[in-house]
Amino acid sequence: MTAREGLALVERDEHGVDTKFREDVLRGLSEPQKALPARWLYDDAGSQLFEDITQLPEYYPTRAEAEILRAQCDKFRHLIGEGRAVVEFGSGSSVKTPLLLGCIAPAAYVPLDISGEFLRAAAEELSAKFPGLPVHPVEADFMRQVQLPAAVADLPKLGFFPGSTIGNMVPRTATDLLRTMRATLGEGSQLLIGMDLVKDPAVLEAAYDDAQGVTGAFNLNLARRINRELGGTIPVDDLRHVARWNDDFARIEMHLQATRDIAFEVSAKRFSMAAGETIHTENSHKFSRRSSYQLLLAGGWTPRERWTDGEGRFSLILADATIPRSAP
Ligand code: TRP
Repeated sequence: MTAREGLALVERDEHGVDTKFREDVLRGLSEPQKALPARWLYDDAGSQLFEDITQLPEYYPTRAEAEILRAQCDKFRHLIGEGRAVVEFGSGSSVKTPLLLGCIAPAAYVPLDISGEFLRAAAEELSAKFPGLPVHPVEADFMRQVQLPAAVADLPKLGFFPGSTIGNMVPRTATDLLRTMRATLGEGSQLLIGMDLVKDPAVLEAAYDDAQGVTGAFNLNLARRINRELGGTIPVDDLRHVARWNDDFARIEMHLQATRDIAFEVSAKRFSMAAGETIHTENSHKFSRRSSYQLLLAGGWTPRERWTDGEGRFSLILADATIPRSAP
């Protein structure tokens, strides 16, 4: 699950415009390589399209991760044990979280999300499925250190961060987040994190550019949103969705590419794109065993166990926040 805008946290000007959204868009469209922060993909329409993406035949990560969760239930029970507080970064999807909670008999569940609406829905769903389980939702931006509820202060913690959402961040941001999670959860906690794997670029590009065009609609929705919310005149029909493998950085990039020379306005500012020029809207980094371990270690987490699905497409890693030895 990804960071979504939180109604309660949005700052609007006298015209009802989300000031941070406008600031990000105007700055991003002014750069030599136009780029927009991916979080703006997730308005209501975008969030719905994203749910649809996870069901697509080409989009394997969701199914592969669920397969691992089902297959390794006994291992989780053994290595994580009962009685932990499970802290989920981004509130739980209806499928994955129950799979985990059913395995490890936690003492409490703490979903964290920036959107109060998604948070309440997830908390209610989980409470219904696990009647005796204390659920303590926290509305917060998980990119910053979070004060956990007093009720779980003395419980051992397990952080849960599925979906390879860590891969949507550049390494510097991903490292900052891992360190922040460690600060939120505390010394001695564990982290169960999903990380998608490097594979044939054709398979990856299909996963992010499906035949039905759902991922394309998801990406183009950002241009529509700019037109709707920021008085934009972007000719959406002259943009096309592109998913391309960047081999240097081991990531799939999503772009919106101009199919001809275009000019448009956003919030009364003029912009232009030459035919072929793109707006970069999302990254999805892919990992090897070593690169995933290196990222975790850089963030203060020591990998303990790693599992992949039967086809070796996706990995789930259990790490712990042990005190690092000072030498060598
Ligand atoms: N983290 C997942 C991934 O990178 C889900 C995701 C985030 C995604 N943004 C996306 C999937 C954009 C498709 C398109 O695969």
